[in-house]
Amino acid sequence: MNFHIGSKKIRAIRFASAVLVLATLAGPGAVFAKDKSLYDRLGGKKAITAVVDEFVSRVAADDRINHFFKLTASDPERLASFKGKLVDQICQATGGPCQYTGKDMKTAHAGMGISDADFNALVEDLSGALDKFKVGAKEKSELLGALGAMKSDIVTQ
Ligand code: HEM
Repeated sequence: MNFHIGSKKIRAIRFASAVLVLATLAGPGAVFAKDKSLYDRLGGKKAITAVVDEFVSRVAADDRINHFFKLTASDPERLASFKGKLVDQICQATGGPCQYTGKDMKTAHAGMGISDADFNALVEDLSGALDKFKVGAKEKSELLGALGAMKSDIVTQ
């Protein structure tokens, strides 16, 4: 029997072992590119702000639900504050560097009598805004999924 292994092979095995040891020590983040946050994949705060602007315009033009936003739309300062809160909330919920300082969803929508149909109409308007900016299907479904999780705090009717 011949157990002879060529020195080239030994060097190759040593090299492979060293790579394996280093990779193990460094951890998976160093070997595989870290997954980007949804925030980054959406295009950061500028892109989120553009989507929120478009979304709020669509809601304002949506006769199914715009009556909820009469007071908001009638006061530019209030409207700007509402948009800013939406941007911060989406930024934070998607892993961005913002801090949402508004009310929790239950408190914010208490007493409004929002129904399932109202909620779905609003999601449809957001979906249209995301489509307008050609947000990818994966990012779109991740964002809508994150917001969908808030439904039980918002819908009371
Ligand atoms: C996932 C869905 C929703 C999210 C993420 C959301 C988010 C928010 C946020 C962040 C605020 C501001 C809270 C604050 O002032 O501290 C807010 C307020 C409000 N939301 Fe929603 N909301 C959702 C669904 C809805 C729906 C379905 C309606 C009605 C159809 C609605 C109507 C309102 C109104 C009228 C206000 C008050 C705006 C103002 O203060 O001028 N929301 N919402």
